[in-house]
Formats: sequence, structure tokens, C-alpha cells
Amino acid sequence: MKLLVTGGAGFIASNYIRYALSSHPDYQVINLDKLTYAGNLENLKDIESSDRYTFIKGDICDGKLLEGIEFDAVLNFAAESHVDRSILDARPFLQTNIFGTYNLLEAALQRKCTFLQVSTDEVYGSVEKDFFNEISPLQPNSPYAASKASSDLLVRSYIETHNLKAMITRCSNNYGPYQFPEKLIPLVILNAINKKPIPVYGDGMNVRDWIYVIDHCKAIDAVLHKGTPGEVYNIGARNEKPNIDIIKLIINKTAEILNLDNVGLMDLITFVDDRKGHDRRYAIDPAKIERQLDWTPETNFEEGISRTIKWYISNEQWWQRILSGNYMQYYNEQYGERLKN
Ligand SMILES: NC(=O)c1ccc[n+]([C@@H]2O[C@H](COP(=O)([O-])OP(=O)(O)OC[C@H]3O[C@@H](n4cnc5c(N)ncnc54)[C@H](O)[C@@H]3O)[C@@H](O)[C@H]2O)c1
Repeated sequence: MKLLVTGGAGFIASNYIRYALSSHPDYQVINLDKLTYAGNLENLKDIESSDRYTFIKGDICDGKLLEGIEFDAVLNFAAESHVDRSILDARPFLQTNIFGTYNLLEAALQRKCTFLQVSTDEVYGSVEKDFFNEISPLQPNSPYAASKASSDLLVRSYIETHNLKAMITRCSNNYGPYQFPEKLIPLVILNAINKKPIPVYGDGMNVRDWIYVIDHCKAIDAVLHKGTPGEVYNIGARNEKPNIDIIKLIINKTAEILNLDNVGLMDLITFVDDRKGHDRRYAIDPAKIERQLDWTPETNFEEGISRTIKWYISNEQWWQRILSGNYMQYYNEQYGERLKN
């Protein structure tokens, strides 16, 4: 089996590639990644010399390039993935997330192979009570979520029109090793380690459902091997938490691990102007994948958070290289003024 994994130098797909190579000793993995600011080949240092792994630097929007790649199944992780950046400039989101997905669908159709679209719970929008299931309406609120919902609908159209063997997964918020520092959990960990102000949007009461990245990878693998073509699967860990609770937990755990004073670290919490159109609560019901594919998350949240904090503490070189690059320009644009107010 030859898997084409797109966006393999990013957070979730690099974890997936490592998982797939170790759990399927007879599989080959081709990683197609454009290496945007979020792509980092250091995420795959430990497996780059495997003879079952190939890296191709390229854009999923490049149809000609895709023609020359042989594969049996494609897992489409490649995306512009950060909501805040989609508020600043939506264009790359539409280009990669919609047009790139269209190109991959065409490539999969020509080869009559399996297509797995890695999507997000954000396509359902915000909900006050209750939980979204797979037939809930799509009501995306950010340009990022709208671009993902658009690509999901394109995938649906290829299933209905061309009988493509495609499946869609919609997962809740991930955390774990190799996550780019712009996302909430690594941002809080790094600012706590570096004793920098920790910006918290609005009142900090926005709720997300958190899952450890390896549990997400295992769910994707279950869908690839046991999922029914044409189906959508929600993936979540039934682990809803307001942002402010996560931030306090990370501070307490970081203080414990580094033997620091947690009161001093708590003082770093700084409430800042809210994100535009900030969704209040995401909540999905993962009962379908649990029941039909016998998948359940294995990592308890506190354990997963401790493991993640320890990973960032032991991999300082990895994040120092990011913090010393262009990332800080984005960080200052995003939080500079907000932190002054
Ligand atoms: N992070 C989450 O919490 C979460 C939750 C649910 C779903 N998802 C979805 O999972 C996928 C991966 O998310 P992530 O957080 O790992 O993202 P990420 O931003 O860490 O990685 C994205 C990767 O895609 C690559 N890429 C971007 N544009 C490309 C293009 N045109 N061609 C080829 N490669 C390109 C980047 O270089 C990068 O390596 C995304 O599709 C995202 O929507 C993420």
C-alpha cells in the first residue's frame, strides 16, 4: 500500500506518518508538502532515512505534479489551518483548502483510489448546548472554517457524482508534540517557559473539545482501513474545556515540572481584545466512530498535557528555531497592540 500524505511536514500529519510507518511495516508513505511557514521537515527527522518514506516538496494546487505521483490512497491533511491568519488574509485558505482539494480529488478519481479528507469540527460552527453529529448542518463562521466546509462539500460531490471512494473525518482541537507555536496550547506552554505575557482572548470562556494528536492519528487510520466509503466520521475525546481552564492547568503543570512558583506564572495571564467572530463553543458527538469502527481515545487529558509540556521542554532547539524566524513578526502583529491595551 502506497499512501500519499499531503501536508506531512505539519503538526498532525507528521505524527500520522510516524504512526503509519510503525504500525504498517509493509506500507510506503509519500509526503507531499509545500513547506509553508507551518511545514517543518525537522518534525520528521527520525524517519527521513527510512526506505519506506519519500518526501516531495510541492503544492497540492499543482495538478501537473500530482499526475506524476503513484499512490493507492490519499490522506489530505494539507491546509492553511490557523483561524487568526484567515481573518488577516483569507486568499491562501481558499486556494489551498478548496482548489488544492479539488486537484487531489481529480488525481484520486483518475486512479480510482481511496480519498480521505481530514476536516474539522469547525465546519459545524458554534453551539450553545448539545452536540453536532455527522448530519448537522454546516455553518462555518471563520474564513478558515468556510474553506474547510467548502472542501468537504466538494468531496461529497465527488462521492455522489463520480462514486469516488472518499471519506471525511471532522476532528476537534488537537494538541501534542510538533504543534506550531501559534496555536493555543504550545503558545501558552512556550510563554510560560519563557515567562512572557500569556494573551487570552475575550473572557477566556470559549469552549473547545481537546484530543491528543496520536488519538486523532489512530482514528484516521481506523477510518482509512475500516471506514465505509461515502461516510463522514466525527472524531473527538468528549473533553470540553474553557480556554482559561486549559491555560491554568498548563501553568500549574509547567510550574510543577520546572519547579517554579505557579503564582508568578499565573500573573502572566493577560486578557486581550477578543478574536473577531470568535466561536463560543465547539462540541461534537463522536458516537458513530466509537460504535462503528471500535475507536476510542486512549489519552487522558492531564496525562496528554504533561507529556506535551515535557516534549516542549526537551525540544527547545525545535521551537527556538521557529521563534527566531519570521514567526515573531506574525506574533507581534497579532498580539503587540492587544497586549499594550
Ligand atoms: N490542528 C487541529 O487542531 C485540527 C483539528 C481538526 C482538523 N485539523 C485539520 O488537520 C489538517 C492538519 O492540521 P495541522 O494543525 O497539522 O496543520 P499545520 O498548519 O500544522 O500543517 C499544515 C501543513 O500543510 C502544508 N501545506 C499548506 N499548504 C499546502 C499546499 N498548498 N500544498 C502542500 N502542502 C501544503 C504546510 O506546509 C504544513 O506542513 C488540516 O487540514 C486541518 O484543517 C486540524
